[in-house]
Amino acid sequence: MQVSSVSLLDDGRAMAVDFDDGATMRFHAMWLRDNAQDEETRSASNGQRLVTLGDIPEATRIARSDVADGGVVVNFGPDGKTVRYDARWLRDNAYDAIPARPAGWVGEAIETWDGALAGAVPSAEFSRVSDDPAALCDWLATVRRYGFAKLTGGPLREGALLDVVALFGFVRETNYGKWFEVRTEVNPSNLAYTGLGLQAHTDNPYRDPVPTLQILYCLENSAEGGESIVVDGFRAAQRLRDEDRHGFDLLSTHCARFEYAGSAGVRLTARRPMIELAPDGELTCVRFNNRSAAAIRDVPFEHMDGYYAAYRRLSQIIDDPAMGVSFKLEPGECFIVDNTRVLHARKGYSGSGSRWLQGCYADKDGLLSTLAGLEATS
Ligand code: FE2
Repeated sequence: MQVSSVSLLDDGRAMAVDFDDGATMRFHAMWLRDNAQDEETRSASNGQRLVTLGDIPEATRIARSDVADGGVVVNFGPDGKTVRYDARWLRDNAYDAIPARPAGWVGEAIETWDGALAGAVPSAEFSRVSDDPAALCDWLATVRRYGFAKLTGGPLREGALLDVVALFGFVRETNYGKWFEVRTEVNPSNLAYTGLGLQAHTDNPYRDPVPTLQILYCLENSAEGGESIVVDGFRAAQRLRDEDRHGFDLLSTHCARFEYAGSAGVRLTARRPMIELAPDGELTCVRFNNRSAAAIRDVPFEHMDGYYAAYRRLSQIIDDPAMGVSFKLEPGECFIVDNTRVLHARKGYSGSGSRWLQGCYADKDGLLSTLAGLEATS
């Protein structure tokens, strides 16, 4: 990638850069100056910016720009600072051709799915991802792509799920502890601890911020039933959007409320939409949990009927067997879900035999950071 020519625009407030593949991208003087990669602007050791916007003259203009060694050298006024920009860097960070995207779009690293993925459940061997950085990189990339993945052949001991988290990050400790037990209890403090089936849900929508990853690790599973089911909440939201754009808009532009007060001294509440979008319509989070949904009181009276119709339809889509992928965890197996995206469910199980899972939370920023580091060195 090289720059072939450059020209000033609007009295130096911007410049147009022609690249050797025929594309032309415009860049503003202020943007270029703020993103200078020189040693005065960026720390050579950690890459962090050393200046604030207040250190950059408000009247910054491009006085002159020239093609040099395939990149661009820019001389800024009024202070005369000269900065070189690499062609590849400019192209990778260009903002002049942002595509128009429909509300509910997802990034290129994400692939939404439905029940057709059942024949190709993303999975890896615990020992391989533990020993081989390339295998770990591949596995973490599948978590990023599909929002869930299995890990098989892990150790059969309590707390082994912490070893899974240690592959990429850190446990998010909560009032449920560093990890929690998921098995039948006589007096359950949470319905997750009974043998009842559970509708697909995201965990802990009553927290803000919500735990962004969950790991469920199987130690025993000889009970009848108890299969795990995962549903892509992003695909469900997109399906609602495609069927009923108004309903999608209602769920994404009004806050629901969630709460949990099932343990002494704990009163967790959050006010967030069931379908959360970035300002440009990117799907960023789905929160869906019938057990912890609180009274919704941020939807105007005239929209509440429509809101509930959309909520009901989203629930039906999530329950549609064509949307889910199910599997039964064997002892030593676990799965990880992106709790901002993929819902998990459990089929009911009987009292004969035993089912013992341990669960914990972790966060996606650490996983994505580890993945990016592995990708940078591979
Ligand atoms: Fe759950």
